[in-house]
Amino acid sequence: MKKLSVLMLLFVASFKADAQDISLKKGWKFAVGDSAQWASPTYNDQHWQAIDLSYNWERQGHPNYDGFGWYRTRVVIPASLREKSFLKDSLRLNLASVDDNDEVYLNGTLIAKYGNNGGSNIKDGNYGPRSYTIAANNPAILWGKENVLAVRVFDTGGDGGIYGINFSLAMADVMDNVTVNTDADFEYGDNNSLSKSVKLITKNQYQYQGKLAFKVTDPETDAVLYEKTNPAAFTIGKPFTYSFSIARLAKKSYTITYTFTDEKSGKSVTHIETTPYILTPYPSAKPKINGAEVFGARSGNPFLYMIPATGKKPLVYKATGLPEGLKLDAATGIISGSVAAKGDYPVTFTVSNKLGSKTKKFTISIGDKIGLTPALGWNSWNAWGLSVDDSKVRISAKAMADKLSQHGWAYINIDDGWEAENRSADGKILANSKFPDMKGLTDYVHGLGLRMGIYSSPGPRTCGGFLGSWQHEDQDAQTYGDWGIDYLKYDWCSYSEVTIPKPDLPALKKPYEVMQASLGKIHRDIMYSLCQYGWGDVWEWGANVDGNSWRTTGDIQDTWQSMAGIGFDQGKAAPHAQPGHFNDPDMLVVGKVGWGPSLHTTRLTYDEQYTHISLWSLLASPLLIGCDMGHLDKFTLSLLTNDEVLAIDQDALGKGASQYVKNENYQVWVKELKDGGKAIGLFNTTDKYQTISLDKADPVLKGYTKFRDVWQQQYIITTGKAFSAKVAPHGVMLIRVEK
Ligand code: GLA
Repeated sequence: MKKLSVLMLLFVASFKADAQDISLKKGWKFAVGDSAQWASPTYNDQHWQAIDLSYNWERQGHPNYDGFGWYRTRVVIPASLREKSFLKDSLRLNLASVDDNDEVYLNGTLIAKYGNNGGSNIKDGNYGPRSYTIAANNPAILWGKENVLAVRVFDTGGDGGIYGINFSLAMADVMDNVTVNTDADFEYGDNNSLSKSVKLITKNQYQYQGKLAFKVTDPETDAVLYEKTNPAAFTIGKPFTYSFSIARLAKKSYTITYTFTDEKSGKSVTHIETTPYILTPYPSAKPKINGAEVFGARSGNPFLYMIPATGKKPLVYKATGLPEGLKLDAATGIISGSVAAKGDYPVTFTVSNKLGSKTKKFTISIGDKIGLTPALGWNSWNAWGLSVDDSKVRISAKAMADKLSQHGWAYINIDDGWEAENRSADGKILANSKFPDMKGLTDYVHGLGLRMGIYSSPGPRTCGGFLGSWQHEDQDAQTYGDWGIDYLKYDWCSYSEVTIPKPDLPALKKPYEVMQASLGKIHRDIMYSLCQYGWGDVWEWGANVDGNSWRTTGDIQDTWQSMAGIGFDQGKAAPHAQPGHFNDPDMLVVGKVGWGPSLHTTRLTYDEQYTHISLWSLLASPLLIGCDMGHLDKFTLSLLTNDEVLAIDQDALGKGASQYVKNENYQVWVKELKDGGKAIGLFNTTDKYQTISLDKADPVLKGYTKFRDVWQQQYIITTGKAFSAKVAPHGVMLIRVEK
């Protein structure tokens, strides 16, 4: 279905082929359609076509076929496979990747299934790798005999089938299914200390007994700070917990290595994580007004803007120069109403509390343009995938209102998975049972001073297999308007099925023009977020179809490879960023992410997370948080509430950074700012510490005398001919230079 799987990360372990493994690459039969009988070992599949698992079914006689297809094969599972293995506990079935969902039957018994993500069914899109473990004593396995393996696949759109490289049956190894779970948050204590508990977990019956070695090293010097080995024992349902505390840490990341070695088998498993460090200063109790300097709205449409301000509560808000039609709630800072007359209105905000007051100049721009600075918000996808529901959205909205909106965060966007199975009799789109009252939910979000976003596809189906807007565009735009929606992510997905093969530029633009026209008919400011993965160099024409942002890439994952691969590849698109129209290199992968009901801590190191937020801000990207907002740990919160970093993203000039230096060790990206200054990111792309220097006579720095460390919000004293910074592996030094 899609080019990139977001679910891949749930199956991070890669299982090396062993001499013992039984290859399942050959001998498969295939049929399109669906029948319960096809699971049966006695069903005669002689007349079925032979299929090669190297390719999707489209390439093997079924072009453009979406829906059900079955794969069958026969395999002898020798008893020796089990006898020769150490654990003898479970059998592993590797089915490379399935596009999109599957049920696996062994001799007629359902032994594994995918596609029940979030309590939905096989028709939900869950393209990705499949590796199942089946208890060795499962009676469905006929040891020493021929077994019939049948796989029922459902494809929602695009490519379909089972395809890839690794098709095998193997016995699970002792350390398969053993995890060192480090997902708990670090606790921050006195003396710059960190403490935490980690767990050794297994799904195997086997009694693990051995030693857990714990080691903390400084990646800058390779010095070992702390080392300890403890006895450890665990088995299924009885994890081993190890708690530790490390003190006197400097403001940088350290590396922790956990190695468990099992005594009986001699096998070991190692897990590495880094430690967090917070750079963002703690917000002052005195009032401070944050956020962009400008907000655009269309004349005559409902207006909603909350003045973002920090400081000890209660805060009192004032605004002078508000255009006619707007009123401010002095207690909440929410400005609402509607302005008829077009124009740029200079206003002054004042926020006061017991400790003082602060003013800020601001422009309310009433005209045709909205989204003058990139959207700051949350989107459900990277956290909840298709399992998003009303309560998760409310929790997110409440968390944003309590902890983030003071810094300018404003959008709460529901991604795929909200749509009902069928439209109403008159063709109206309905929400499914997870969203009992969409209007009520939107009212709740608006009541918090936030704005609400929704998701659809121009195709008949979304990427998750839900209803799209195909041939219902006007009606859907109207429904969004009735609900009070403020943001629409419009995702290509199955539109390929209803357009010409290999769509040319007009065909790529068409669905976005159609929805643009529909949105134009309703009287709401709806941010229009194009999602078609960058096809047809969308950055060159996204603004022409009124896109406030357009995705420039496939789906991001929470790995360095994915994040850096996307972020550092934005050079081509960057010059096209402008007020009201921004490149979208996809949503953030910080905090607890997971694309489904169960979440994990992002796999990015802390330095990689600093890089992620710095780079996205330099690129003037929409910043859409993709984590569980009900669980914002201290580090993640510090990352998302640095007003000087956010100011770079929100700079009113609206420029995207350009790549100024790129070599095998580091990159320098430079963004011009409205006040004549520049934001500069010095990125270490290697996995070793290094010093990155920029000559002060270099054109990029010439004439600038002040250097500010943006994350720490302090000026840097720099003497000598060059500006130099020691940058952590995959980390960043983000500076702002002023004249
Ligand atoms: C596509 C998009 C993602 C997300 C999913 C939803 O993959 O690129 O961002 O919206 O669809 O199914």
